[in-house]
Amino acid sequence: MQLSVFVLVLFCLCLSVYGNNKHDGSIKHDDPMLNTETPNYKEYCVIGAGPGGLQIAYFLENAGRDYIVFEKGYGAGTFYLKYPIHRLLISINKRNTGKTNKEFNFRHDWNSLVSHDESLQMTKYSKDFFPPADVLVQYLNDYATKLNLKVQYNSTMHDILKRKDGLFQMWDQHNNAYTCKYVIMATGIATPNKPEFPGSELVDGYEDLPIDLDEYEGQSVLIIGRGNAGHETAQH
Ligand SMILES: Cc1cc2nc3c(=O)[nH]c(=O)nc-3n(C[C@H](O)[C@H](O)[C@H](O)COP(=O)(O)OP(=O)(O)OC[C@H]3O[C@@H](n4cnc5c(N)ncnc54)[C@H](O)[C@@H]3O)c2cc1C
Ligand SMILES: *[C@@H]1O[C@H](CO)[C@@H](O)[C@H](O)[C@H]1NC(C)=O
Repeated sequence: MQLSVFVLVLFCLCLSVYGNNKHDGSIKHDDPMLNTETPNYKEYCVIGAGPGGLQIAYFLENAGRDYIVFEKGYGAGTFYLKYPIHRLLISINKRNTGKTNKEFNFRHDWNSLVSHDESLQMTKYSKDFFPPADVLVQYLNDYATKLNLKVQYNSTMHDILKRKDGLFQMWDQHNNAYTCKYVIMATGIATPNKPEFPGSELVDGYEDLPIDLDEYEGQSVLIIGRGNAGHETAQH
C-alpha cells in the first residue's frame, strides 16, 4: 500500500516536471537534450551585439564563417542607449597624438573597433574628448551595417544548453529554436553591485538615478563607491 502511494507520488512528480517543459511545440523531440534535429543551424552563434560581439562578428565575417549574432535590442550597442547615464562616454576620443603612426594612434583611440574600413573610426564621428554616448551607438550600428555583419535584432536568447550530440541549442523569446556548433557569449559583464547594510534598502542604485538636477535641489547627497559611476555622478 505504502509502496503504491510512493510510486503514484513519483509518477505525478515526473508528470509535472515533464509538463513544465516550456519548449514543446517548437521542436519535435520532447527532450531537447536528445533532439537530433538542427533548426536554424549556424556553426557559430554570437550572443550580444555590443562592441565585443560586433568585433568577433567582423573576424568571422572576414574568415567566411557560417555565423549569426543575436541581439535582444533593436539595434547594436544597446548598452550605450542607457549607459553612462549622464550620457557622455568615459572612454577618450584621442584624435591628436602628435604622431603619424597609424598603429600608435589606434592604440590611443579607446572607442574604435578593428576593421579595414578607415571611415569606421570614432575619431571621425566626434571632436569631443568625451563624446556623447549616442555617437557610439551610431558608430556601432554603422559598423554592423557597413561591414555587412549578420546580426539578428530583437532576439533575446535563453536556456542555452548543450545536447547529447554536442550541439548547442537555444531559443528566442518567441520560442523559435536555434542550433549551433559554437556559442560565443558577448552579453557584457555589467550587473549592479548591491552591498547589504542597514539602510541599504533606502539607497538608489546608479542604474536608477535621476539625472534631473532639480531632484537633488536642497538635498545632501552621499555617494557610496568611488569608481567610474561614482565620479561621473559627483561631476554631474
Ligand atoms: C556604468 C558603465 C559605464 C560604462 N561606460 C563606458 C564608456 O563610456 N566607454 C567604454 O568604453 N566602456 C564603458 N563601460 C564598459 C562597457 O560596458 C564595455 O566597454 C562595453 O560595453 C562592453 O562591451 P560588450 O560587447 O562586452 O558588452 P555590452 O556592450 O554590454 O553588450 C552586450 C549586448 O548583449 C545583449 N544581450 C544581453 N543578453 C542577451 C540575450 N540573452 N540575448 C541576446 N542579446 C543579449 C545586450 O542587449 C547588449 O547589446 C561602462 C560600463 C558601465 C557598467
Ligand atoms: C525590432 O523591434 C522594433 C520595435 O521594438 C521595430 O521597430 C523594429 O522594426 C524591429 N526590427 C527588426 C529587425 O525586426
